[in-house]
Amino acid sequence: MQTPANQSSVPVLTIDGPSGSGKGTISRIVAQRLGWHYLDSGALYRAVGIAASWADLDLSDPSALVRCTFDTNIGFRDDPSGEPRVIVNGQDATDELRTETAGGAASAIAAIPEVRAALKDRQRAFRQLPGLVADGRDMGTVIFPDAGHKVFLTASADERAERRHKQLKDKGVSVTLDGLLREILARDARDANRAVAPLRPADGAVRIDTTGLGIEDVVAQVLDVMSRPAG
Ligand code: DC
Repeated sequence: MQTPANQSSVPVLTIDGPSGSGKGTISRIVAQRLGWHYLDSGALYRAVGIAASWADLDLSDPSALVRCTFDTNIGFRDDPSGEPRVIVNGQDATDELRTETAGGAASAIAAIPEVRAALKDRQRAFRQLPGLVADGRDMGTVIFPDAGHKVFLTASADERAERRHKQLKDKGVSVTLDGLLREILARDARDANRAVAPLRPADGAVRIDTTGLGIEDVVAQVLDVMSRPAG
């Protein structure tokens, strides 16, 4: 990665939205097409959640979780097929990070202001030339408020539950659609109602509702946003 003298001159596209809105898939493809770096900020929260559960920490003990946030080593590398792998304290934790349990732990620790503060610099360090696509909940509002382009992806809760159901089924994991829908709605409520950095569209973000749209349709809409002058 190349670090310019002035990091704020590096272009950033933020893609925020609730779980299941397609952020991860779309952000990765857009980053590839642009030849930019990619930040999966949710993976950082998930990694800290997993490290905390490995260490048997109490998820309601902020000081232990902040210490855990600083102590957890998180690395990203692409496997030969180009799939990003997440390495937590030297262990490939990619599959464990994708579970609903890890998502729930991430959402719980993400509500702690000190944990969010402890992850700020790590996220901003991804801003490297030639540019960054940053995927999360508060990329456009808190972490990169000066980003030139901002997108907010949504989709109906039913469709998000169905997408997640299909993904899990493809992986051989059996869960009920109803249960998933309940978990998604609970996570949405927690992420949108927390006191710090709640999930909401950034000022000036372009909203794209992905309900009923295919991946390429959404990618095309995001690339169209990128073709507009930076705000
Ligand atoms: O995007 P994801 O599902 O991997 O994120 C997991 C949880 O982490 C999500 O429920 C909320 C939290 N999160 C956050 O609070 N802020 C971010 N920028 C990214 C994720």
